[in-house]
Amino acid sequence: MKLGFIGTGVISDAVIRGLLSTDYPVSEIIVSRRGREFSQKLAAEFDVVWVEDDNQAIMDAADMVFLAVRPQIAEKVLSGLKAPGNTQIVSLIATIPIATLQGWISGGTSFDRAIPLPSVAHCNCVTAVYPGSTKVVALFDMLGGAVAADTIDAFDGYAAGSALMATYFEILENAAQWMVGQGSDYADARRYLAALFAGLADNTLKSPDQSFAALVEGHSTPGGLNEQVAQTFMREKGGAAIHAALDDVFARIKAASGDS
Ligand SMILES: NC(=O)c1ccc[n+]([C@@H]2O[C@H](COP(=O)([O-])OP(=O)(O)OC[C@H]3O[C@@H](n4cnc5c(N)ncnc54)[C@H](OP(=O)(O)O)[C@@H]3O)[C@@H](O)[C@H]2O)c1
Repeated sequence: MKLGFIGTGVISDAVIRGLLSTDYPVSEIIVSRRGREFSQKLAAEFDVVWVEDDNQAIMDAADMVFLAVRPQIAEKVLSGLKAPGNTQIVSLIATIPIATLQGWISGGTSFDRAIPLPSVAHCNCVTAVYPGSTKVVALFDMLGGAVAADTIDAFDGYAAGSALMATYFEILENAAQWMVGQGSDYADARRYLAALFAGLADNTLKSPDQSFAALVEGHSTPGGLNEQVAQTFMREKGGAAIHAALDDVFARIKAASGDS
C-alpha cells in the first residue's frame, strides 16, 4: 500500500508515526513538503517516507491519500486536483462535507472522513470514520480502533464528543485546586487525580459490556461518598451542562459544514 498525505502537520505526523510502529503493510508514504519541519523529520527518520512538492504528484502516486490541511485553506489547496480512478481519499479536515470535496477533487474510488486524535501516534485512540470503507477502517483499527458512523449526524456527534477533552482537564483542574485549598500540594493532587482517572479509564476499557450507567452504579455505594458527589453533580446541573455544551458544538459543526 502506498499512502499519500497532503498537509504534513500535527495530525499527519501522528498517523504516520502510529502506522509505522505497527505491522501495517505500507511500502511508501509520500508526504507534502509543507509543513517543512514535519516532512523533513519524517523523511530523515523513516526510509519509506519521501517528500513531494507537488500535491498532484501525491495523488498520482498513492493508493490512499489523506487530506490534512486546515479547513480555511482547503479549497485553495485541493481545487483542481485529480485522483486516479482507484485512489481512496480520506479527509481528516474538520467540517468539510464529502460532497464539497468531490466538487474540488475529480476522480477517486471512494471518499471517507475520519477524526484521528494525536494519540493515534501511540495506537491508543479510537477513530471515528464515515462512511467507513473497509480499507480505511482496517487502517485505523491498527491505530487503536475505528468506529464507522452510519450517518453524517452520528459522525458529527463523534466530532462533538471529541471536543470534551478540555472539559476533562477542567474537571481535573477544579478538583486539584479544591484539594490545594484543603492543604494538598498541587503536584501531589495532580498525580493523585491523574492516576485515579487513568485507572478508571483502564477499567472501563477492560469491561466493554458495562454501560457507563452501570459503572456509575458500580462505583456508588448506597449512602456512600461517590453516590453523594454524583448526586450533587447532577443536582447542580452537571449533566445538563454536558448536554448543552454538546448541543452547541454540534450546531457549530453543522453550521460550518453548511448543514444547519
Ligand atoms: N490536530 C488534531 O488533533 C486534528 C485532529 C483531527 C483532525 N484534524 C484536522 O486535520 C487538519 C490538519 O490539522 P493539523 O492540526 O495537523 O494542522 P497543521 O499542523 O497546521 O497541519 C496542516 C499542514 O498543512 C500544510 N499546508 C499548508 N498549505 C499547504 C499546501 N498548499 N499543500 C500541502 N500542505 C499545506 C501546513 O504547512 P505550513 O506549516 O507550511 O503552512 C501544515 O503543516 C485540519 O483540517 C484539522 O481540522 C486535526
